Amino acid sequence: MSLTSQENLQHLRAYVDYLRDLGIYDLYRRENPETFLPETVREAFAASAKRMVAAPQTAAKPPAQPEARTVPRSAPPVSPPSVTQRAPMAASGTRPQEPVRPAPPQPPAATYFDSEPAPLPPELAAPMPKPVSFDQLAPLPTQIIPAAERVAALEAIRADIGDCTRCPLAYGGRHKIVFADGDPNARLMFVGEGPGADEDASGLPFVGKAGQLLNNMIRAMGLQREEVYIANIVKCRPPGNRTPEPIEANTCSPFLLRQIDIVRPQVIVALGGTAATYLLGVKQSLSSLRGRWYSTRGAKVAVTYHPAFLLRDPRQKGEAWKDLQMVMVELGLKPAAKA
Ligand code: URA
Repeated sequence: MSLTSQENLQHLRAYVDYLRDLGIYDLYRRENPETFLPETVREAFAASAKRMVAAPQTAAKPPAQPEARTVPRSAPPVSPPSVTQRAPMAASGTRPQEPVRPAPPQPPAATYFDSEPAPLPPELAAPMPKPVSFDQLAPLPTQIIPAAERVAALEAIRADIGDCTRCPLAYGGRHKIVFADGDPNARLMFVGEGPGADEDASGLPFVGKAGQLLNNMIRAMGLQREEVYIANIVKCRPPGNRTPEPIEANTCSPFLLRQIDIVRPQVIVALGGTAATYLLGVKQSLSSLRGRWYSTRGAKVAVTYHPAFLLRDPRQKGEAWKDLQMVMVELGLKPAAKA
């Protein structure tokens, strides 16, 4: 059976949700495997391990019984059972006397995607992982990469990424890994969320409509795009341009962290909530984060609206300009003369 790409995406999504239901949000940022799984799951494992040790090793295995299994909330979809059932084989391997009648027609089994799943009981519902800032992820580097070596150092990170399959985005219809664009010695870096369709096709960040607006914002600050460094929290396009899942952002972040440590920008502008969440390790509304300085990897961080949001709500452009003016003062930039 060949699946359509939409079905493939749905299965992938279900699988990611399934992992999350098991408590696996985060394959990268666990500091200690012991604390990786939620408390309830660890306790359940520990209890079942104890039972296995206590059980007599020689006890005969009871005959297999059809088990009533509790399927996790978002287990990957399973095919409904076939209506025509095979007669069980008799112990001797010969056909049983009583043929098994086909089961009466049943309504199709509800699949994962038919409706919103019921919420998990509180003891099973794992909390969303607390975001971890880039500063908490790794110690600050003690050495500055000399300007002349930065291109090679960034190329080495790109080589490490390779044809990445570390997270589900590798299987979500990605075409190109979008590494970054711009000056490896830039004083100013912009960090977005993740590639869209245009970026996925070209392999460069912010080249679509949002990218054109970002270019205008950069020019208004008195700079050219080539003078700044531009990257994203995730390097592969999330299907349907959805927000990256924590497991995806956390898996990809270490590469961005290394890029920042090489470029060592004076200022980073977090474009939108996703960039702010992962760079700073905070989960707050964007409006509450704007208008003040933060810090990550030795750089000052300002938070502003994502250009894609500004395209949807151009009334906020004035507010974004205030954020960029704060950055310009910090960098001693003069606004571009009006054309
Ligand atoms: N949106 C982003 O966050 N990044 C891109 O590269 C393009 C659109």
